[in-house]
Amino acid sequence: MPTVLILGAASDMAQAIAKSFAKNKYDVQLAARNTDRIEASRSDIQLRSGVNVSVHSFDALDYKSHEQFFQSLNPRPDVTVVVFGVMTDEDAAFEDFTAAAKMINTNFTGAVSILNVVAKYYAGQKKGTIAGISSVAGERGRQSKLIYGSSKAAFTAYLDGLRNKLFKDGVHVVTVKPGFVYTKMTEDIKLPAALTAKPEEVGDAVYNAVVSKKNTVYVKWMWRWIMLIIKMIPEFQFKKMKL
Ligand SMILES: NC(=O)c1ccc[n+]([C@@H]2O[C@H](COP(=O)([O-])OP(=O)(O)OC[C@H]3O[C@@H](n4cnc5c(N)ncnc54)[C@H](OP(=O)(O)O)[C@@H]3O)[C@@H](O)[C@H]2O)c1
Repeated sequence: MPTVLILGAASDMAQAIAKSFAKNKYDVQLAARNTDRIEASRSDIQLRSGVNVSVHSFDALDYKSHEQFFQSLNPRPDVTVVVFGVMTDEDAAFEDFTAAAKMINTNFTGAVSILNVVAKYYAGQKKGTIAGISSVAGERGRQSKLIYGSSKAAFTAYLDGLRNKLFKDGVHVVTVKPGFVYTKMTEDIKLPAALTAKPEEVGDAVYNAVVSKKNTVYVKWMWRWIMLIIKMIPEFQFKKMKL
């Protein structure tokens, strides 16, 4: 049976991704910094899908542990999905670099740290798939997502580069841009229903993108066109807008 590793497994989105792979007969490795919180979902997924589900301790910010963390997995996963991420108040992050650094160090540095380990292993095996949950916020820098957006822009560029680097080794890299999703991260924001996905839609989109070897996927198709329009606004106009 193939195995999927979910990094940042406690979130609603990660749980939905795990369920989607389990439904399709993948064994699941759930990795999170607080393993107690995912114990219940471990037995739930195992019971419902009849696949093997294991729980692992993983902190995206503990870079030094990443090599050992990955080497300790048995079996090593066929698919690795980076779901972890942080989005905090942008005004606070502009005032206090500690808050900005937390977003950058989690969303970009933490992802690069663990995925470099995974990528080297997959390149040696001449197979494997990496999927990263990035964001449309990374497509054009703007004031309301100054730090979060730029950390996701860096993550998207890293995933693009990794896809290019690993193509010759038969390793595939998928970039997922969910648009808005109803999760804890967005619970205080009023989101437009037509543009907002449910975690389950993200779960199925990630699974489908992995099996059909998509490069970049937008969970709600409208986002591809919305971002195209946003990217087409000339900079001399864009810089005056309050976005
Ligand atoms: N919601 C949206 O509209 C949306 C849109 C586009 C992209 N995204 C991206 O989707 C991903 C999932 O976000 P979400 O919406 O499901 O938000 P969420 O509920 O806040 O989930 C984020 C997850 O990341 C984990 N995490 C944070 N720092 C970590 C660390 N140092 N080590 C390990 N795990 C860590 C959190 O763990 P704890 O549970 O321990 O706090 C949490 O489970 C993120 O990458 C986010 O940027 C979200």
